[in-house]
Amino acid sequence: MKDKLLSLQQEALDTLHQSTSLSELNDLRIKYLGKKGPITEVLRGMGSLSAEERPIIGQVANEVRAAISEAIQQKQEKLEKEETDRKLQVEKIDVTLPGRPSEKGSIHPLTKIIQEMEDIFLGMGFQVAEGPEVETDYYNFEALNIHKNHPARDMQDTFYITDDLLLRTHTSSVQIRTMQNMKGEVPVKIICPGRVYRRDDDDATHSHMFTQIEGLVIDKHIRMSDLKGTLLQFVKEMFGNDTEIRLRPSFFPFTEPSAEVDVSCTVCKGKGCRVCKQTGWIEILGSGMVHPKVLEMSGYDPKEYSGFAFGTGVERIAMLKYGIEDIRHFFTNDLRFLKQFAHI
Ligand code: DAH
Repeated sequence: MKDKLLSLQQEALDTLHQSTSLSELNDLRIKYLGKKGPITEVLRGMGSLSAEERPIIGQVANEVRAAISEAIQQKQEKLEKEETDRKLQVEKIDVTLPGRPSEKGSIHPLTKIIQEMEDIFLGMGFQVAEGPEVETDYYNFEALNIHKNHPARDMQDTFYITDDLLLRTHTSSVQIRTMQNMKGEVPVKIICPGRVYRRDDDDATHSHMFTQIEGLVIDKHIRMSDLKGTLLQFVKEMFGNDTEIRLRPSFFPFTEPSAEVDVSCTVCKGKGCRVCKQTGWIEILGSGMVHPKVLEMSGYDPKEYSGFAFGTGVERIAMLKYGIEDIRHFFTNDLRFLKQFAHI
């Protein structure tokens, strides 16, 4: 029996020697040391041994079991270490490799111009107001003295949602909302940036959606010269100190008198070039003294208060400032275009 045990030990150690994986090792452990294994079997048969033999065989059996168990343990540690080394090798990260550069976003040129304009007007004591893009006929037209039969209301110009609801065609609607909110208080001194919509066919200078900034000032004794001074300050900060403006008489239903404002050409400085069509001037906005009817409809007595208003296209300002020749660039989101403004 002793010989049998010793040869079992030898056999177990030989197989162990050849095993190359942890799962083989586990099979081996079950095979030799498990409940149904040969050593357990020997120990179970001890009852048939004589009293002298029993302790000797018992001791040998225990030694054999200990030897196999020890050998399996050692082999397991060895295999585990090999496995760890292999993983370390395979999954090694070279921390000295340069990383993949990630794309950095930048602020959209229109947003930049809006922020710049906001800064300029905040510096002159204006506040920023907002209003909805889906607007009622009243705020977009009626309260701005644009009557029912005015051509601007035509289906060809305006995106209607219902008879009474539409996409605002200009930010002038926010003038009315602001006056209503202020409930007759002065001073009113706001600018309002926002998107506006018109049923235009898109081309290099037209877009069915674009951005405007509206301005409105109401107080006692506001005069045309306040309008001119404010706008002159604005263009000097926006286009440079040597920029001039000129006011041309015009017509808007919500202002009287009305004026269109030109800046001296940002390219040729007024000498005449292709951009200003040799005139030296480029139109940038509409403006005027708020019409008495408009003041009255929104709760300001035109005998006591007066005001000026203006509205300008942000894309147009950006195109002039950066020499962009097609308005569609702002909306097609070509990164090659947008990236050029990352560092401005
Ligand atoms: N709302 C006009 C437009 O979209 C622009 C404008 C002209 C706004 C004169 C004004 C203004 O506030 O006084 O064409």
